Amino acid sequence: MAIFLDTGKVEEVEQFHKLGIIRGVTTNPTILYRSGVKKVLKDCSRDIARVIAPYPLSVEVTTNDRQKMFDQAKEFSSWAENIVVKITVHGPEGELDNLEVVHELETRHNIRVNVTAMMSAQQCFLAAMAGATYVSMFGGRVNNMGYNVVEEIKKLSKLLEDFKLKSKIILGSTREVLNVVEWLHAGAHIVTVLPNLLKGMIIHPYTKETVKMFLDDAAKAEEELLKDERIKSETLRI
Ligand code: E4P
Repeated sequence: MAIFLDTGKVEEVEQFHKLGIIRGVTTNPTILYRSGVKKVLKDCSRDIARVIAPYPLSVEVTTNDRQKMFDQAKEFSSWAENIVVKITVHGPEGELDNLEVVHELETRHNIRVNVTAMMSAQQCFLAAMAGATYVSMFGGRVNNMGYNVVEEIKKLSKLLEDFKLKSKIILGSTREVLNVVEWLHAGAHIVTVLPNLLKGMIIHPYTKETVKMFLDDAAKAEEELLKDERIKSETLRI
């Protein structure tokens, strides 16, 4: 079980990687666009891949054209050994080329693929059958549609076990701190988390209050000790 960081900002990756709590990074074109990353994809991906190596970085293709997906997958995976290529399970109109590309890349080109934007156990199961190294289900989006993603995770985990498929289940689209442990317990191998949410998992208001109490009391104890020593030395002088 592991936590990945869902960001395209190298500074955020460095910050959490140093803490020893992440085992990989995921990005997508929307995350990169919204986080205002101004670097070209190649530079940004190489920087992140270097920071987290040997842990994996998922970089998503930016096209749905069959040949261009191949070309981009080959190019992206040549940038660093730990780059995994992210491809959506089908195209914007339900095009099926994507799984063919995934199958080819995994079985003939030794390129690891993270099949993404999936909303159900059955989609993930088929992506796993096609040979995907990672299958990404978007938990928050599934819940927002009115289905409980926990049930989908359990179903998928059982299917992968029954069919002896090696794909790792990634749960993305986290919305609440509670999602992380709940989804891992349901059978996700990995949950990919936004930096703020990860921070929210660590920082607790009552912990802050407790730490303040420890520090205040330590300072008070030191002050009293100094005061006692002063009195003692003054008494000796008299
Ligand atoms: C995961 O790999 C995705 O990049 C991400 O978690 C999608 O989340 P969203 O539903 O917030 O767009």
